Amino acid sequence: MFITFEGPEGSGKTRQAATLADFLRQQGYDVLLTREPGGTQIGDQIRAILSDLKNVSMRPRTETLLFQASRAQLVEEVIRPRLETGGLVLSDRYADSTLAYQGYGHCFDLDELRALIRFATGGLSPDLTLLLDVEVETGLRRKMSGGEWNRLDAYDLEFHRRVRAGFLELARLEPHRWVLIDAGQPPDAVQAAVREVVMERLPARPKRA
Ligand code: TYD
Repeated sequence: MFITFEGPEGSGKTRQAATLADFLRQQGYDVLLTREPGGTQIGDQIRAILSDLKNVSMRPRTETLLFQASRAQLVEEVIRPRLETGGLVLSDRYADSTLAYQGYGHCFDLDELRALIRFATGGLSPDLTLLLDVEVETGLRRKMSGGEWNRLDAYDLEFHRRVRAGFLELARLEPHRWVLIDAGQPPDAVQAAVREVVMERLPARPKRA
């Protein structure tokens, strides 16, 4: 099973995904937690280019293709092999971030992006996507005070508003795959909601129980 975490900046996805991974491992599941961009040695190098605040001259098309390059490497090197052996893969962001950020954020054509994503992933789509939704101002404030501030965070407020609205629209278009979680709640409440959704969908017995 392939589960992805998506959401606007400062939604707490990274922490929530890590806490869920620990919990599932304790339950005996074989879990791989990865992230985008990155998750492989090559992907981490691409991530550094994408995040670097010095790269202010990066064009949105360049950015779009670099995300696909990182994703292609991650899918072939890590995700597919793991799924083929029956493992559970959790990813902190995946292809829907391209639709939300480059599609709704930069206003690139969604169908063109979908074609790029298909090429990069060979058509691998998540079984379940958790949308950790938080108000844009709240999320950016959280990131400025605690997290690492990168080149993409520095896009203007309107960009981030389009991204959030984009995620909500994507979830509305594919209600079977997406579950919306209110990430404005305290972290423990968010984790409880995440676990409830995931445990409902996982096969009843862990492989190594
Ligand atoms: P990261 O520091 O991981 O941010 P977050 O903790 O919010 O996930 O940086 C990833 C950034 O890249 C984030 O701003 C979202 C953006 N992104 C895209 O614009 N397109 C994509 O396809 C992906 C995977 C990420």
